[in-house]
Amino acid sequence: MCGIIGVTGSADALAVIMEGLSRLEYRGYDSAGVALQDGGKVWTRRRAGKLAELVEAVGDAPARATAGIGHTRWATHGRPDDRNAHPHTDCTGRLAIVHNGIIENHAALRAELEGTGHTFASDTDTEVLAHLIESHLDVGMDLAAAVRATLAVAQGAFAVAVIHAGDPDLIVASRRVSPLIIGRADGLGLVGSDIPALLGQTRELYAVDDDQLVEMRADSFRITTLDGAEVEPRPLRVDWDLEQAEKGGYDDFMLKEIHEQPRAVADTLLGRVTPGVGLSLDQTRLDDGELREIDKVFIVGCGTSYYAGLAAKYAIEHWTRLPVEIDIASEFRYRDPVLDRNTLVVGVSQSGETVDTLQAMRHAKRWKAKVLVITNVVDSSMAREGDAVLYTRAGPEIGVAATKTHLAQLVAMEVLALYLAQLRGTLYPDEINDLIHQLHRLPEDIARVLESNDHIEAVAEQCKGVRDFFFLGRHVGYPVALEGALKLKEIAYLRAEGYPAGELKHGPIALIEEGTVVVGVANRGHLLDKMLSNVAEVRARGASVVLVSTEGDEATAALADHVLTVPDSHELFAPVLTVIPLQLFAYHLAKARGNDVDKPRNLAKTVTVE
Ligand code: F6R
Repeated sequence: MCGIIGVTGSADALAVIMEGLSRLEYRGYDSAGVALQDGGKVWTRRRAGKLAELVEAVGDAPARATAGIGHTRWATHGRPDDRNAHPHTDCTGRLAIVHNGIIENHAALRAELEGTGHTFASDTDTEVLAHLIESHLDVGMDLAAAVRATLAVAQGAFAVAVIHAGDPDLIVASRRVSPLIIGRADGLGLVGSDIPALLGQTRELYAVDDDQLVEMRADSFRITTLDGAEVEPRPLRVDWDLEQAEKGGYDDFMLKEIHEQPRAVADTLLGRVTPGVGLSLDQTRLDDGELREIDKVFIVGCGTSYYAGLAAKYAIEHWTRLPVEIDIASEFRYRDPVLDRNTLVVGVSQSGETVDTLQAMRHAKRWKAKVLVITNVVDSSMAREGDAVLYTRAGPEIGVAATKTHLAQLVAMEVLALYLAQLRGTLYPDEINDLIHQLHRLPEDIARVLESNDHIEAVAEQCKGVRDFFFLGRHVGYPVALEGALKLKEIAYLRAEGYPAGELKHGPIALIEEGTVVVGVANRGHLLDKMLSNVAEVRARGASVVLVSTEGDEATAALADHVLTVPDSHELFAPVLTVIPLQLFAYHLAKARGNDVDKPRNLAKTVTVE
């Protein structure tokens, strides 16, 4: 949610921090701040708004500070203003802390601290940590011991980095649930909330697990558990370079990432789906024996990842004959689902850090279910904790709205469905071979859909004055409709309802009137005629109709005001193609309305609080 960076041993700590923050800003951006070691004092500066506000405010920073910490914030406690921005300090101003997460028992801790004379300067849960650490320093503990003692009583989720004027070379950092990594370069120590923040400085990265504490110095570092046991540093494999994380000539990361989809899907299929060879999932830690015992599947995720799971449900049930339940992660763990050792729980998460999905995976493990994680981030918390992991290999996704990772998730789950069908013998080998060939063709077909970018832009331009949209689909077109509506809401800030087309008559059709735009997913499939009847119903009530249809389907085109075409494909693979015109439609509408598509208001790339 929030972004963290810390550096020690640099000739210019401020420059390293600001560069890292610029790469972190997508994680949360209602305010930002920095704290620097300043010859026996700590200098801090915090600003509400985007990072540019902070850049303007650090003109008088101490020259040649060698260590410091920085933060980009997405508010959870207290308004997004200057005083609630991080870093927070203790009563002396000699200690500064940045934090990502939520301290759930902050109110009780705050009351206790105020009772013993501590004065608070913000409304945040984070500041409680600063004063608690101070209270332990006051009784003679060193900084690491004081942080350890503080975190022992803190409940909730956190990644923290702390500096103190009394030990100018040292950064103490720790995590529980919220992500944290560390990096080393020649005479340079780094801590950060995610990989892009540190990649500008080093590729030598190490993982930090829950309840571990890092003491980072310029020329050494040490990881221990919160109980004080020494931990062997575990190197983190990094497949990304900095260039991959830049915009590559497109106006926005989102547009770049939409155009990267042929590559993302090809990479996800690579070595797993090979025509003439077959299917292979041998890098996933999946045990075929255990998988054969599976008698039920749950798919769990949030937002766009949930919709990918919803589309995959159709494929898994159809090909494997296994019952599949699909759950929103924040509901799953609290509704007491029926799980046992023969249940496969598939956790779908681009980031691998979304707290609801992470906690859902932990819940499933407690009930002895097998947990398979589908994620884009190597060594993310979910990847580490799952019994098995299937990486989507889409490359870094910077745009807040998920696009290429969604396609990669869809494809990864199609592969999983075929793999399970092969294991269970529910498809004939020649059927599987045929499907492998069709899967293999997808990157080419995706590239063809992207060629209609200009046409979709023109259609979006004509819809830019419309405020109400309905997205309709049937069968696998239904999750595509939901995803299309979500994209429009999150980046164009327009009201968009996604519905199964057959459900419309049971209430929502009352909202259709002259000028409403209905976007229908009407590609070729066994329910196309029924879908077209529903389209006729909304047209009869005055709606303008935009249809995603299969190339050459004249009858479908005749029912639409605008047609966005995709190549023909197997019905169960179609969501990989039909969602793309809807991503582009939302993108161009958002641009036409002057929105910042990469950083939509109120949203963060990774949601690490409940
Ligand atoms: C929408 C979007 C969100 C995420 C959701 C889950 O474009 O990006 O709905 O899909 O927050 O995030 P992950 O996949 O990281 O668990």
